Amino acid sequence: MTFNISPNTLDNLMYASVLMPIKMFWINGGTNKHYYHIKDKVIVITGANAGIGFECALELAAMKPKAIVLACRDRGRGMTAISEIKMAGHFNCEFMQLDLNDLVSVKEFAKEVTAKYPVIDILLNNAGIMAL
Ligand SMILES: NC(=O)c1ccc[n+]([C@@H]2O[C@H](COP(=O)([O-])OP(=O)(O)OC[C@H]3O[C@@H](n4cnc5c(N)ncnc54)[C@H](OP(=O)(O)O)[C@@H]3O)[C@@H](O)[C@H]2O)c1
Repeated sequence: MTFNISPNTLDNLMYASVLMPIKMFWINGGTNKHYYHIKDKVIVITGANAGIGFECALELAAMKPKAIVLACRDRGRGMTAISEIKMAGHFNCEFMQLDLNDLVSVKEFAKEVTAKYPVIDILLNNAGIMAL
């Protein structure tokens, strides 16, 4: 039994098996080979209970840092965000109260966070910067 494979079929096979996966890999952004290891890092994110701050907390928690402090003004919303992150399987996050509109709160937060974590490696100054 003989098979006749036309050059067109070979071209299509070549495209489907080799070129297409390479193209899709390239379109999808390839692989980031420069992931920063954050296993020993302490991260503080202001306004981490919603929006960009929350998404950052979720993504960073998955990279298993030493700790992530969610600095939020409302305990209820902060704790809800923490339970969502814990439900995703990441237990390295904690709530600390911080209202950036209130300097007393800012000072108390600074005392609390530096007492527990003398070195803060990454600070995401996310909350309430639109009006600066
Ligand atoms: N989204 C955009 O397209 C965009 C574009 C340019 C810049 N930004 C900036 O990126 C940052 C995040 O944006 P977003 O869209 O994620 O905003 P968002 O969804 O409104 O979330 C803001 C977060 O900041 C908290 N927050 C606001 N005022 C605070 C205060 N006084 N003390 C402590 N926490 C406070 C909020 O807490 P509560 O839940 O308690 O309100 C919330 O967790 C903002 O600074 C924004 O100005 C965003």
